[in-house]
Amino acid sequence: MESFFPFSVPAPTLFYLMLYVLTLAVHFVFMNYVFAGTFYVTIVGFGRADVALTRQHNPIAAMLRDWLPFAFSGVITAGVAPLLFVQILYKQQFYTANLLLFHRWMAIVPALIVAFYLLYLLKSRSISDWPAGWRVAVGVGALAAIGFVGYSWSENHLLSLDHRRWVPFFVERQWFYRHSALMPRLLMWLAGSVPTMMTIVCWQLRSAERRGLKVSSWEVRIACVWALVGLGLAALFGTMQYLRLDPASRGAFGDRASAPYVVVALVGVVLQGIAWLGQWRGARLSRGCLLLASAGAMLSILGICMVREAERFARIDVAALYENHAAAAENGGRLLFLLFFAVNAAIIVWCVLAVRRDLKLDRAAPPRAE
Ligand code: HEM
Repeated sequence: MESFFPFSVPAPTLFYLMLYVLTLAVHFVFMNYVFAGTFYVTIVGFGRADVALTRQHNPIAAMLRDWLPFAFSGVITAGVAPLLFVQILYKQQFYTANLLLFHRWMAIVPALIVAFYLLYLLKSRSISDWPAGWRVAVGVGALAAIGFVGYSWSENHLLSLDHRRWVPFFVERQWFYRHSALMPRLLMWLAGSVPTMMTIVCWQLRSAERRGLKVSSWEVRIACVWALVGLGLAALFGTMQYLRLDPASRGAFGDRASAPYVVVALVGVVLQGIAWLGQWRGARLSRGCLLLASAGAMLSILGICMVREAERFARIDVAALYENHAAAAENGGRLLFLLFFAVNAAIIVWCVLAVRRDLKLDRAAPPRAE
């Protein structure tokens, strides 16, 4: 019997594919926080400054404003690893020249810089004194820059699967690739990022509750509504983009390789739905519901990453690249890679433990005089 995708591929290809999928999933977690978080902060920014921006009135928005710049650096850092692996895996369809030699894809760099600065501006104290119009403009600007980057990745992905237009596009140095699935696909990413973002923010708020922050049942329910609406809209836009794909791509979604992962992603959606409904009923930040929502979000993200690759494997002659993958695996960098991976993982764990220890000391210390 033919083995299950991706276990039917040779070991070196499987190795790079798994590393690619896992690192891309990490990128998506950060991306979800930033994409949906900036959207949320921008929407509430339309309200009055005292209500929109303060920790007391709007703890979700305040938490997001504090953490968005950090999470944004996470998006970029966590994007590097899949960017390296995707080039080894697909070579021609995705190679550095895509990004480095072409102004169109390089345009994401200034967009990232602008978004970074605007997120810091959103975090600044002084912004609450600004006129509402300026405040909203900062949020909209950050969202537009981040949306442009997401749009570019989706555009690049759809183009790389369009064999008929891929070569003329680069030869004629065209700037924009148009596809009717592009907009619904971007909206699917945006809507789908909301439940993951809300899950992370609710964990953060739960931790802040232990440090004395009051999170009202109203605020918890706002999080539930956003997450549930996000799940529903993601399913709607996902279906819309599926219906607009070329027949070959559509066929790839239903085949034996991708079907199990479509199921995994849907199970994740159902688990998240149950978790957010449970949270709504309890109207408090429940650990059990948040654990279920986190597990559901991880299943959905991993399922979607695998479906993306099953589709790409069906559209590209990956078998012709097996030799390249084997040659790359022979290059001797694997041990060095694993060594640096272990060293960096240890440093990150050490940083997290050090911050946790200092936070505990901070909580134990008597309050400082103002
Ligand atoms: C806030 C900025 C960013 C956003 C909103 C974003 C969003 C996205 C989205 C929506 C996708 C999926 C595209 C699709 O399948 O339709 C994607 C894929 C990807 N992103 Fe990001 N991204 C951002 C920044 C970055 C950066 C800075 C890097 C690299 C350093 C990066 C690396 C990747 C890679 C490698 C993929 C997979 C590409 C592929 O498989 O074809 N991203 N990103």
